[in-house]
Amino acid sequence: MSALDDKVFIITGSSRGIGLAAARKLAGRGAAVVISSRKQEACDEAARAIEEEGGKAAAIACHIGKEDQLADLVEKTIARFGRIDGVVMNAASNPVYGPSEVVDQEAFSMIMRNNVFSAMRLAHLARPHLEAAGEGSLVFVSSIAGLLGNRLIGAYGISKAAQLQLVRNLALELGASGIRVNAVAPGLVRTDFAQALLDNPDRVRTMEQATPLGRLAEPEDIAGVIAFLVSPDSGWVNGQVIVADGGITTTGGF
Ligand SMILES: NC(=O)c1ccc[n+]([C@@H]2O[C@H](COP(=O)([O-])OP(=O)(O)OC[C@H]3O[C@@H](n4cnc5c(N)ncnc54)[C@H](OP(=O)(O)O)[C@@H]3O)[C@@H](O)[C@H]2O)c1
Repeated sequence: MSALDDKVFIITGSSRGIGLAAARKLAGRGAAVVISSRKQEACDEAARAIEEEGGKAAAIACHIGKEDQLADLVEKTIARFGRIDGVVMNAASNPVYGPSEVVDQEAFSMIMRNNVFSAMRLAHLARPHLEAAGEGSLVFVSSIAGLLGNRLIGAYGISKAAQLQLVRNLALELGASGIRVNAVAPGLVRTDFAQALLDNPDRVRTMEQATPLGRLAEPEDIAGVIAFLVSPDSGWVNGQVIVADGGITTTGGF
């Protein structure tokens, strides 16, 4: 018997990367997981892989930038599993690389809508179901880019910093309903999302050398923190951010 048996978690952006690793981890601990991304086929494939490993999974496509699809995600989850115990706000967008002067209004609005507003909407759509489940948990996958200045992905970093404030506000607003809200802030993780950074061997070497643990993260390194934050083991942790970066921020960044 595991603490996550019979619990149901939605994980946005879980067809690959950190989201998929988190889904695998939660399913491995007995939870049913909803795999979600923009592409139904990719979700189907990921859900099938989890089921083949003995887990419970459903695949429900949802573009986080589209409110009707967020509502659909919640409704279909209830139709399929009858409850929601937590949501991992993992999907995010980062369409621009470069200093702030190259960021136009359209790109900035898209980043803020997808990474901040959509997560806030999804939290409120899930809220009645989390309340009904008794003890709900929302976990935001933020980034150390929300804690440090960044010359390359500054607009994305602004959205990740805003997520951390959203975590504090939601923790305050939803605490009386027994819903905890926390974030994990990873450093660089080996996923498609970071490919543009990973493609630069000099940058990778610099990052590895600057990281006290001497390597970059794998998605599983972050999945364990997410599993902790949705579990009763973190029952008194609320409105907080856990930095999971191998220690790189202890050096003041990179
Ligand atoms: N990788 C890193 O170095 C790193 C570091 C710190 C924080 N993070 C954060 O970690 C989270 C996950 O990133 P990752 O590295 O695991 O990325 P990833 O491997 O590229 O996976 C991203 C996932 O999100 C989905 N997705 C992308 N845009 C979406 C949208 N608009 N609506 C719904 N789903 C969408 C993708 O599937 P589809 O393309 O099929 O939609 C995929 O399932 C993000 O919030 C990111 O900011 C990553």
